[in-house]
Amino acid sequence: MQPSDVATVRNLLDRIPDSVTIVEVGPRDGLQNEKTTLSFETKVDFVEGLIQAGLKTIEIGSFVSPRWVPQMANTAQVMELIGTPQGIDLPALVPNLTGLALAKAAGARTIAIFAAATEGFSRANLNSSRVESFARFTDVASAARDSGMRIRGYVSCAVHCPYEGWVAPDVAARVAEQLMELGCYEVSMCDTTGASTPDRAAAMAQAAIDAISHECVSVHFHDTYGRALANTLVCLQLGVCTVDSSVSGLGGCPYSPGAAGNLATEDLVHMLNGMGVATGVDLARLAAVGREISGTLGRTTSSRIATLLEHAAALEVPVPSVN
Ligand code: HMG
Ligand code: MG
Repeated sequence: MQPSDVATVRNLLDRIPDSVTIVEVGPRDGLQNEKTTLSFETKVDFVEGLIQAGLKTIEIGSFVSPRWVPQMANTAQVMELIGTPQGIDLPALVPNLTGLALAKAAGARTIAIFAAATEGFSRANLNSSRVESFARFTDVASAARDSGMRIRGYVSCAVHCPYEGWVAPDVAARVAEQLMELGCYEVSMCDTTGASTPDRAAAMAQAAIDAISHECVSVHFHDTYGRALANTLVCLQLGVCTVDSSVSGLGGCPYSPGAAGNLATEDLVHMLNGMGVATGVDLARLAAVGREISGTLGRTTSSRIATLLEHAAALEVPVPSVN
């Protein structure tokens, strides 16, 4: 390699953080669109398995209307049974004051409010315009802050909307800024449809970083076109250090028709391990949790690494290194 090539490679990798915080969204995003609603006992086992695999932030469910998303109706029971394990954060989605009261009663210490960059998605997902939804979120955030709760934010359709097409990066970044003004500690910028390409992901992430700083940006890519890992990587190259993902690549939003699941946590951890970026996650244990939940749901995993590990075991060939 010429010295200039070496410098280019260094520049490409310079801002990749030494460690990445993973926000595991499997119990929420992963299960909200499944045909079967899992019992609260099964969900508790699932969340506990994820904790044992080393995940420290696990989105546990949603306090939304059970008529809109019946799969999340037993979130309070899950939360009550799991309690507040030391050092583990278990955010839950809350759309309004009704949801906040239920979350509080169940013992939630962190909530997530979820806004959209587009009018079309806001109406489909929240039955309200962006302005109306922000009025609700303002009340929710104020009451949550008064109760000492932490607040995470989401910007859906930060790149592309199923109803309105491509979204300008500064529009999504402005919504992130508004969520920070409500007291969020972090905002997850979401490619809800999974249509992003790495150039668009980079433009979206850079606009969000400029607006709210890289420490406050998380990224959340759905994997409809198989680009979630590539999109995540370019965001890490820009200094993003928090990533949402879902074990086995479970996930999907009932109001984003055709969108696939999230970036698979196994694939994210395997790539980061290979790059020497710490996550604190035990990949073998995580893969076991993924196998178990996929079996329960009667699905095959969407994780490439989990598939590889399964095939290697079935063929009785040496299991490829998971580090
Ligand atoms: P609405 O129908 O306009 O609500 O829904 P409403 O205020 O008119 O109330 C209607 C009924 O629902 C009332 O009951 C309320 O009490 C009840 P009734 O008097 O008819 O018996 N209700 C509730 N019950 C339980 N919990 C609540 C609640 N609120 C009202 N919180 C609402 C408005 C916001 C509630 C509804 O649109 C909703 O629940 N939306 C949530 C949809 C959702 O969960 N979507 C998936 C999550 S977002 C996502 O996946 C994207 C993300 O992953 C990022 C990305 O990838 O983009 C985060
Ligand atoms: Mg999502």
